[in-house]
Amino acid sequence: MATQKKRFSEIIRKDHEQRKAEEWRGTFLDYLELIKEKPETVKLAHAHLYDVITAAGQSDPDESDLPRLSKLFNNEPPKIHNFFKDTFFGIEDILDKLVRYFHSAALKGEESRQVLYLMGPVGAGKSSIMERLKQGLEEAPPIYAIEGCPIHEEPLHLIPKHLRREFEKMLDVQIEGELCPICRHRLEDEFKGKYEAVPVNTIRFSAIHRRGIAVVPPVDPNNQDTSVLIGSEDISKLDRYSEGDPRVLDLNGAFNAGNRGLVEFIEVFKNETEYLHAILTATQEKFVPAPGRHGTIYVDTVIVAHSNEAEWRKFKADHTNEAILDRIVTVKVPYNLRLSEEQKIYQKILGRSGFKAHIAPHTLEIAAMFAILSRLERTPKCDLITKLKIYNGEEVVEKGQTKKVDLVELKEDTKVEGMMGISPRFIMKAIDTALSQSPEGITPIHIRDVLIKMVKETDMPDDRKKTYLEFLQDTIHKAYLEILEREITKAFVYAYEEQAETLFQNYLDHAEAYVNKTKVSDRNTKEELEPDEEFLKSIEEQIAIVGSAAEGFRQEVIAYLWSATRRGEKIVYASYEPLKEALEKKLMGSVREISRIITKSRTRDEEQKDKFNALVGNLLENGYNQHTAEVVLKYAANHLWKD
Ligand SMILES: Nc1ncnc2c1ncn2[C@@H]1O[C@H](COP(=O)(O)OP(=O)(O)O)[C@@H](O)[C@H]1O
Ligand SMILES: [Mg+2]
Repeated sequence: MATQKKRFSEIIRKDHEQRKAEEWRGTFLDYLELIKEKPETVKLAHAHLYDVITAAGQSDPDESDLPRLSKLFNNEPPKIHNFFKDTFFGIEDILDKLVRYFHSAALKGEESRQVLYLMGPVGAGKSSIMERLKQGLEEAPPIYAIEGCPIHEEPLHLIPKHLRREFEKMLDVQIEGELCPICRHRLEDEFKGKYEAVPVNTIRFSAIHRRGIAVVPPVDPNNQDTSVLIGSEDISKLDRYSEGDPRVLDLNGAFNAGNRGLVEFIEVFKNETEYLHAILTATQEKFVPAPGRHGTIYVDTVIVAHSNEAEWRKFKADHTNEAILDRIVTVKVPYNLRLSEEQKIYQKILGRSGFKAHIAPHTLEIAAMFAILSRLERTPKCDLITKLKIYNGEEVVEKGQTKKVDLVELKEDTKVEGMMGISPRFIMKAIDTALSQSPEGITPIHIRDVLIKMVKETDMPDDRKKTYLEFLQDTIHKAYLEILEREITKAFVYAYEEQAETLFQNYLDHAEAYVNKTKVSDRNTKEELEPDEEFLKSIEEQIAIVGSAAEGFRQEVIAYLWSATRRGEKIVYASYEPLKEALEKKLMGSVREISRIITKSRTRDEEQKDKFNALVGNLLENGYNQHTAEVVLKYAANHLWKD
């Protein structure tokens, strides 16, 4: 207990220390000295955010993923930004585009005066990208600001216009922006114009405190008061101060709060055009009106908006919006289209939830398969499941075709792929439902049932519903049976090899004793036994060696065994081809038996019971639990190996 407490307090102490070390307070004159030392400290909002993102570095795709990714991206796999890694999956190219936007905006390209607009279907991760950006700002070291400024502005604004050029040269920085009305007033009133004495301190970005980060939800269409954006005049102060005194200003609008950082607009196009014009001016001019008659206020912030495509189309169709359209950089955020990555999304979300129930292998895969099929556009080149596999980077040659379908060609043929279909949220709802229905664990069969039910109950156009049900009831059903057959055979073959080996050793023991006319020493009991001819025959007859031929065959086997041993070779059941064939055929009988073993739970004999238990044992090792193993075996018995 005591040591735990010590450990906690140690972590906390270090954190306090580190944060303290990052903090700073001084006069503006001290600040100038500091900037002279570290001019790179002075950054506009876009450059700051860009540095926050890229500080985490980049990494190459995992070695094991590289061939697949090279194929997927035509030998140019996108850069993986560590900032987004482990949070976002399958949209590396989109995130790279985003980073490139910030790069040119950081260099004060045209982009720095445009609204970054993320457009994509619900659940494609737009809000999550915003969350990540905001989190990045919050975790970054603090920035310098005029102490007490309601919009925590850049202290260099204190330098009067006529001295700016000189200071820019001396400091090797560019100075942009004007003092806010409140700081201007304080400078005169409190500091009598001595700007060198104005205190400067560090501030940390914080979304809850609305410091450098502001979020604007869609505004009530009946009350699109721009005070949400630019703040207001505090009426209670109006009688205290004279008209025109900036102290009546309440600079708590989104552009004030988000100065130096980021302003996020959710479902932005639900807002009225006039409202949007305020956003436009802020972006283009980097000024917003101050409330009342107080002139304008310089703002430096990254403006990001997001919404879905339907809203975007509606907005675009309205000609009065042309000016605004010209000021928007659109980054499409489609759904992920890679099967492997889709499962990682679910795993990520599951990891954060309270559900601890068992999930059988391939369960998330089947759910992901449905999600991705729903997002793909049809093509005359191959069927959809083949397309899904190709998009997943798998080597596929479609049945009956000799030429491989080309991924790049497939992509080129699409129009809105990834911009529609089933969202990860829909799938998560299905997984949650299945998990709460079945605390013993869920299987692909269960998740498919839940999905079918959900699709039936969800309100959507009839033809889409029909397509989705076809995916689940036909395409995915078949795909799962293939997976299941492979899975069970694999589990069986594992035991099968052991069995073949035992059979092989037994055969050798008995055949050797037979040939040498000696006895067999039982491996366990050490009992001396006569060679079991019936047993030998049961193997030999598998390859039609009967009667007098048997004697010669046994001699050959033993001769082979001896010479192999002399050569120091390891003897396994597969060493001697004819015997291997005989042993496999003998065991094959039992592969055919799988379904019988699985179905006839009551009439299994001892041997079958052993086999069944070995099979279940292997499934357990492969990630199933008792319940889910039994469920999939029963399902296999009902749907596979039907004669
Ligand atoms: N490509 C992706 N990688 C990782 N997570 C994703 C991805 N797409 C969606 N998600 C997850 O799905 C959920 C819904 O995404 P969200 O950001 O709310 O979407 P949107 O704002 O576009 O409607 C979130 O938990 C999000 O993290
Ligand atoms: Mg959202």
